[in-house]
Amino acid sequence: MALTALSHPKLVASVLPADFSALGHDVEEIERAGIDRIQWDVMDGRFVPNITFGPDVIAANRARVSIGFEAHLMVADPDPMLHLWVEAGCEIVIVHAEACRHLHRTLSRIRDLGARTGVALNPATPLDAVANVLDLTDLLLVMTVNPGFGGQSYIATMEPKISAARAEIDRRGLDIELEVDGGIGLGTISGAAAAGATVFCAGSALFSGDGTMAERTSALRATATEGLVLQ
Ligand code: DX5
Repeated sequence: MALTALSHPKLVASVLPADFSALGHDVEEIERAGIDRIQWDVMDGRFVPNITFGPDVIAANRARVSIGFEAHLMVADPDPMLHLWVEAGCEIVIVHAEACRHLHRTLSRIRDLGARTGVALNPATPLDAVANVLDLTDLLLVMTVNPGFGGQSYIATMEPKISAARAEIDRRGLDIELEVDGGIGLGTISGAAAAGATVFCAGSALFSGDGTMAERTSALRATATEGLVLQ
């Protein structure tokens, strides 16, 4: 584990719990709270039983903040629209391994578009699904819930997968962000960090709870740091 990961776990805010009638206000609050990046949870009603927003909504919020955007594409066929997420202002495009017939080609196309690549793994999908594309992967997203909704419970049985991913990334000396998403809060972030994650996506735990979003962000980061030290 690189020393830098011990000093600054990254916090990513999912916009899923945000007020969709005032997204500009909420993304500005996220930035003021000290969050590192915003995750746009894109859902098409086919890959997951929910529908959220398209690239125009993301583009409309790009100029409101300076922090990075990642598009989490929970969509059945991401290839035809890859360029639209990049044009909307996303620096990272995350596709699901389960949704890509030709994952190696899809990741190559994202890089050709000038964005960083992300691959997400649903809870039932083994790490082996990405073994042959880690050289094309900038971010590995281990889902700790079944995608489609916020506010779900963290699936702790994903921690061995997180640890195996951390071991493989370190063994191969790859520069890959290991991110977790789903049910991340004060009671779960330490376990995910101790398993080897260094980037933590949270929705409910950031948008609701005691104190301000900034205070909740600081508390999550401090708890994650404790977990990282345990490694
Ligand atoms: C699932 C979504 C959620 C969201 C985070 O499809 O991707 O995981 O980002 O939601 P919370 O933090 O409320 O579980």
